[in-house]
Amino acid sequence: MIRILMVCLGNICRSPLAHGILDSKLDTEAFKVDSAGTSNYHIGSLPDKRSVAVAKKNNLDISNQHGRQFIVEDFETYDYIYVMDKSNFENVIKMARNVEDIAKVKLILNESHPSKNLEVPDPYYGGDSGFDDVFNMLDKACNVIAKKLKQ
Ligand code: 4NP
Repeated sequence: MIRILMVCLGNICRSPLAHGILDSKLDTEAFKVDSAGTSNYHIGSLPDKRSVAVAKKNNLDISNQHGRQFIVEDFETYDYIYVMDKSNFENVIKMARNVEDIAKVKLILNESHPSKNLEVPDPYYGGDSGFDDVFNMLDKACNVIAKKLKQ
């Protein structure tokens, strides 16, 4: 079993989408995908309605996910940890215990745009179109991730 964790700040907008999108591209018997937030703001919450809506528009159901906070044990549980932006990266790296932990953490858009260090913008305070943009960016990145993982 290969385990992949998607991480953002709140675990209600971006990482639930990344979680649902990658899950839909992988065989659930061989891969486990999950998501978490670096903050404690939305523990137990359902994903933001706008993320649920953009997922639904793209034939994905993420409405049964619940927010949780990233914990240090996630470094042991997961093989790959994808973060949405540089601040998520800093927050996760702060909790790393060794170089192996650090090596697991990657900016997700470096999969679709290698070495560019691009960020998935936080759509929380913006309009609905921000969620479409986020969906499209994550879908492209997850295509690359799924292709690599299946090799
Ligand atoms: P996310 O978006 O990190 O993509 O889940 C956010 C959701 C909530 C907040 C910030 C970002 N917040 O400050 O409550």
